[in-house]
Amino acid sequence: MSRYISTLMAVFVLLAYACGTSDKSLTGDARWVHKADSVLALMTLEEKIGQLNLPAGGDITTGQATSTGLGQKIKEGKVGGMFNLKGVEKIREAQRVAVEESRLGIPLIFGMDVIHGYETLFPIPLGVSSTWDMELIEKTARMAAMEASADGISWTFSPMTDISRDPRWGRVSEGNGEDPYLGARIAEAMVKGYQGDDLTAHNTILACVKHFALYGAPEAGRDYHTVDMSRNRMYNEYFRPYKAAVEAGVGTVMTAFNDVDGIPASGSKWLMTEVLRNQWGFNGFVVTDYTAINEMIDHGLGDLQTVSAMALKAGVEMDMVGEGFLTTLEKSLKEGKVTAAEIDEACRRILIAKFKLGLFDDPYRYCNTDRAKNEIFTAENRQFAREVAAQSLVLLKNENQVLPLQKKGTIALIGPLADNRENMAGTWSVAGRFPEAVSLKDGLEKALGNQARILQARGANIVYDADLEARVSIFGKPTRRDSRSPEAMIQEAVNIARQSDVIIAAMGEAAEMSGESSSLTDIEFPASQRELLKALKATGKPIVMVMFTGRPRAMTWEQENLDAILNVWFAGSEAGDAIADVLFGDVNPSGKLTMTFPRTTGQIPIYYNHKNTGRPLDEGAWFEKFRTNYLDVPNEPLYPFGYGLSYTTFSYGDINLSSRQLEGDQKLTASIELSNTGKYDGAEVVQLYIRDVVGSITRPMRELKGFQKVHLKAGESKTIRFEITTEDLKFYNYDIEYVWEPGEFEIMIGGNSSDVKMASVEWK
Ligand code: BGC
Repeated sequence: MSRYISTLMAVFVLLAYACGTSDKSLTGDARWVHKADSVLALMTLEEKIGQLNLPAGGDITTGQATSTGLGQKIKEGKVGGMFNLKGVEKIREAQRVAVEESRLGIPLIFGMDVIHGYETLFPIPLGVSSTWDMELIEKTARMAAMEASADGISWTFSPMTDISRDPRWGRVSEGNGEDPYLGARIAEAMVKGYQGDDLTAHNTILACVKHFALYGAPEAGRDYHTVDMSRNRMYNEYFRPYKAAVEAGVGTVMTAFNDVDGIPASGSKWLMTEVLRNQWGFNGFVVTDYTAINEMIDHGLGDLQTVSAMALKAGVEMDMVGEGFLTTLEKSLKEGKVTAAEIDEACRRILIAKFKLGLFDDPYRYCNTDRAKNEIFTAENRQFAREVAAQSLVLLKNENQVLPLQKKGTIALIGPLADNRENMAGTWSVAGRFPEAVSLKDGLEKALGNQARILQARGANIVYDADLEARVSIFGKPTRRDSRSPEAMIQEAVNIARQSDVIIAAMGEAAEMSGESSSLTDIEFPASQRELLKALKATGKPIVMVMFTGRPRAMTWEQENLDAILNVWFAGSEAGDAIADVLFGDVNPSGKLTMTFPRTTGQIPIYYNHKNTGRPLDEGAWFEKFRTNYLDVPNEPLYPFGYGLSYTTFSYGDINLSSRQLEGDQKLTASIELSNTGKYDGAEVVQLYIRDVVGSITRPMRELKGFQKVHLKAGESKTIRFEITTEDLKFYNYDIEYVWEPGEFEIMIGGNSSDVKMASVEWK
């Protein structure tokens, strides 16, 4: 009988939907509202609140709680969607229960943390950002959407666009680095890649920009910690990538765990309504982060009923895992603490997203088992991931052109990450097939065949501290700690090094040393591995360090003592092949850092677009009494933002300006001659920075305002042009008005943020 009733109701929903579509006079948003309202009219209060509930699918839990009794809740209409449930069969079954066994048959939405690829994994986002190639980045998101949608997923919790300037915070690995402008461009590319032009297509998915807001600025780099920031910095710097995602049409926004100016983000009406909706015009829905409503209790904002009402009133629509909405909103409505209109509005926005995805037309749109079999982790996708991975590698040092290596002789492959497939993909790789990833050893063996001999030794554990290592041997990514003494491991490594022509040292962090809840107080290169490197150095053999990391590391000793350093991040499922492509010169490295590498942990936070101070230190100076500096290290970082070498060399001419005096809406063209002066074809990321010399508020020393990735053949030259308008000069002033102010501007162009050519203009 109940089955009969739910089928009947489902027919009503479809009829209601059909009525919604038949009204030709409605366009744009009104059309979606009309469709959603036609369903809303049939729903009970309980069912409306049910749509706001997002339990975890069961395969994965990232927080403190898991969701229980899911099947029953779906039948009762108490679930709006699920996430991190992997596999098209499981998703189809959950959808079947929703559509066939709940009273109204409203389809569920299925989300997942598809952060840097699905089964085919790209480098961690910090790595992908180092390509500075927006087309490529968009394509990574496109391919991730294609694979995820082939396996039942219609919503990803990506892009993560939190600006991050503190490498102690483990989640810097998930973002795009420190720069607002670059972060904004990447946010747009990712949203376009996931959502495409048509969300109803079977292979596009809904994106979710996160974590709104300011999650990347926790005090002391400790995850989930307090954030306190001036509004000026929010608008000029940290807000920009989220805003760019909204302007690119992102369908959903995720709240941050942290508080902002004393209010947890998930309860902040100022953030969720005033900024997001009123100022930026966001018209999708807001989901909390994992149990973020419940966590407002710990923040000291009240009991579950109070904080749930606060979140709804702030403008949050969906409650991830915590069931605060599910268990308290009815009571709050009775007590007048929330209104029926607020619940309707939240439900409406979620229904609209489901309409936009076409789930009311076909709830199984993403559940095609043929696609699941044929379109995921294919040879073609993996080949593309290999290309992206190779583009993401950043060459930090290459003394005497020790790289590229020749395919001959004997190579000593040494280090704790030389042969560890599971650690190649890095953090947040929920759908990954780790044992099938390509390790560095796999990649080298394939590349070399029998042209050269590889001798291998572990040499050291990742860190001396076994407890720390156990904490990061999680999520199917074992570090395989060796129980031998450090001395014994070093001895073995030195022995093989002595028999070799060159050492490839596979060093750095384990994959889960960065990511969520993976903060460090000390980002110095691990001591166990540095001791090994010192012993290897004593052999006199050239050392090429292949550096695995999810964050900038302080590695001054390594920079001073090793011959070459190739920073490889966690380069994804095809890491080993991509690294081999670069080591042997089949691909010329072109990645550039999107986050500053400090010399020491104590320099944090360190970022290129800082402001001038009173008592600035002269450029190039180290210490001067009563100037802004340190007694023990220079102010400059080890590697600046935008830095990265190539096997070839590039030289820049002087900047040519179309005019030195401009007025109002005139356009400025800045051009520069770029020459490939080396022996290899290669790509260079040409970067444009601008300084507003005098402002009504203090202004950064330079800000990235444009970039072009240029491919030049050996010996080739090209004129690179940037068009600059007053849009590029705008900033938020003291009163948070977006303006440009006439005056002098310094135009800088170069290959990294510290090494630029400069010319000035007057713009009135
Ligand atoms: C993370 C989010 C993620 C969510 C769902 C949270 O712990 O902060 O980034 O999307 O879990 O897995």
